[in-house]
Amino acid sequence: MKTTTILGIETSCDETAAAVVRLPADYVAGGAEVLSDIVLGQAAAHAPYKGVVPEIAARAHVEGLDGAIAEAMRSAGVRFEDLDGVAATAGPGLIGGVMVGLVAAKAIALAHDKPLIAVNHLEGHALSPRLAQTVAFPYLLLLVSGGHCQFIGVMDLGVYRRYGSTIDDALGEAFDKTAKLLDLGYPGGPKVEALAKNGDSTRFSLPRPMLGRDGCDFSFAGLKTALVREVARLGALTEQDKADLCASFQAAVVDVIADRTRNAMRAFDSVWGAKGRLVAAGGVAANKAIRGCLEGLAAERDYDFVAPPLKWCTDNAAMIALAGAERLRAGFTDDLTAPARPRWPLDEAAALLRPSHRPGRKGAKA
Ligand code: KG4
Ligand code: ZN
Repeated sequence: MKTTTILGIETSCDETAAAVVRLPADYVAGGAEVLSDIVLGQAAAHAPYKGVVPEIAARAHVEGLDGAIAEAMRSAGVRFEDLDGVAATAGPGLIGGVMVGLVAAKAIALAHDKPLIAVNHLEGHALSPRLAQTVAFPYLLLLVSGGHCQFIGVMDLGVYRRYGSTIDDALGEAFDKTAKLLDLGYPGGPKVEALAKNGDSTRFSLPRPMLGRDGCDFSFAGLKTALVREVARLGALTEQDKADLCASFQAAVVDVIADRTRNAMRAFDSVWGAKGRLVAAGGVAANKAIRGCLEGLAAERDYDFVAPPLKWCTDNAAMIALAGAERLRAGFTDDLTAPARPRWPLDEAAALLRPSHRPGRKGAKA
């Protein structure tokens, strides 16, 4: 087996990203060479609206993507002829942005006669821990981002089983809405986490939705409503009020995650028996309180705990290139008719059986 060099493109939300990743000849289950990793954030363009505006995102991708690709190729020291394939996110995500990235990948694939790999963004997150280290299949993944909140059994490349997901908001969305309510700016997750550090997590008693229930589904809408009520009751908010609200919110989230993750590990164990691996991915996996909680839970059950480095938790193109490279090696490629898909569940069967459990129904990436 020779090396596999892939250009990856990610445009499904508010990051315009391009990266070149090379799998070493002896790659088995992790440890890729990331030759370049360009991420152009659009936060400034969306900040006035306190959330991602799809039309603004799509236009920004059109303006930024060519430059991001050129920079990724230049800093990797790779020419288009040297590539083994081109991978792009083909969904799920904001459809205008997805189309921009996918069409760019198709044009490069056609012009340079290279295979195209249409990657599911969620598969990118699912495989992201394998960029930095060896993580063998199967593993239990908690995917928590702005548009998604689900437990997935990553059984093999292309074989995913969904154990549970949110029945309303995604967790990142809950963080972003909390930030919006407290006027902290966008994206909210890091701001809420920072303020929570100086807050009293016991001052407000907020609900822990789904705690103690069977299964491992999530719900965050009630938590948001409780916060809205507290804010209305307080009236004008001091900095300390905001910090205490953030700390109380984050503590409620951590309690819910602990409860749901215990059930998910139990379900995963019953299938696999052997020593398990718990992996956290997606933007919210950057949160240190949540990481700490998951680490503790994994230790309780003698699981290994793995989370990608912070830069590969949030949206990036290296994870898309990696998924593309793994798929190409396994013989999965796509033709130029591959569609851009606003919705694309990783576990299609679970999604069909429980259509109400959609990834972040109202989220930017739903
Ligand atoms: O994976 P990602 O970059 O995009 C999606 O696929 O959605 O995740 C972005 C989400 C946002 O909702 C953001 O607020 C959240 O991840 N996030 C965090 C933190 N950093 C990013 N949430 C909580 N704590 C953080 N430190
Ligand atoms: Zn994402």
